[in-house]
Amino acid sequence: MASDRIDGRTAVYGLMGDPVEHTLSPAIHNTMAELTGQNLVYLPFHVFRDCDMERTLQGAHALGIRGMNVTVPHKKAVIPFLTEISEEAAAVGAVNTLVWTGEGYRGCNTDVYGLSRNLADAGISLQGKRVILIGAGGAARAAAWLCGRDGAEKLYIANRTMENARKLEEESRKNHPELETKCLSLSEAPGLGEKDLIAIQCTSVGLYPDNNKAPVTDPAFYRQLSFAMDTIYRPGRTRFMQLAEENGAGARNGLGMLLWQGLRSFEIWTGQSVTDQQAAKVRALLESLTACP
Ligand code: ATR
Repeated sequence: MASDRIDGRTAVYGLMGDPVEHTLSPAIHNTMAELTGQNLVYLPFHVFRDCDMERTLQGAHALGIRGMNVTVPHKKAVIPFLTEISEEAAAVGAVNTLVWTGEGYRGCNTDVYGLSRNLADAGISLQGKRVILIGAGGAARAAAWLCGRDGAEKLYIANRTMENARKLEEESRKNHPELETKCLSLSEAPGLGEKDLIAIQCTSVGLYPDNNKAPVTDPAFYRQLSFAMDTIYRPGRTRFMQLAEENGAGARNGLGMLLWQGLRSFEIWTGQSVTDQQAAKVRALLESLTACP
């Protein structure tokens, strides 16, 4: 970014997480600043896992940092120290976007929007569908909430650790009692006897450089699917996606989720709508930055 763009009026935004070295969020927001002529800069802040979160947020607020994205492992930890929280972020139990207000920070969740747009871009609606989540961490929380919000018929939660699957199931039942849920181990996933399932892969298994790994490898699992979305975007075609496609399902990676959650945060911060053309430019940039060697 050209240093002559920064002056006494430049608004500072950023990302807090641990680690933050591989983040693509600065590319999204600094490109959007250039495309829209906003006088803002977006920086990575390495906020350690064991930090004092109350003091961290007080410090950021005192410095006038206008907004922040929040990533692993802080998406839950910030919640007790916010002065406001959106209804959706409170229900999901995770915040990925902070907005400066006079009193403190307001917390929002744009991961749900990112996931929802990525599915919509693939022509997928969850209404009346049976969905299987692989994983029960932060990304799966956003996906479970979306299933309830969008009227899915049934939610399977397949996870390595059953206790974590049960916790997510409990939260889902609180938020959306009408959504039928079932927990299972990863080894049980191939034997559901289902068809036309939508799968959302929410673990880090298969992330570059482990391109040949998938959380479930049995083709019988993939034969039950009509569509598979991976939240991973590097590599662009994961083993999970390959297995889905080889067994007759459609597949999409997580790049759109990354893109749309970022663009939504930008809109919240600046009050400016992102155009299709701007979104396409940022998408192309992310695609070039995530291309594997
Ligand atoms: P995120 O916020 O990105 O979702 P997370 O909260 O750490 O990350 O969640 C990671 C998910 O990936 C969990 O569901 C985890 O399973 P456990 O609940 O058993 O820990 C899953 N996961 C991570 N590594 C895995 C592996 N090697 N095999 C299977 N599941 C794995």
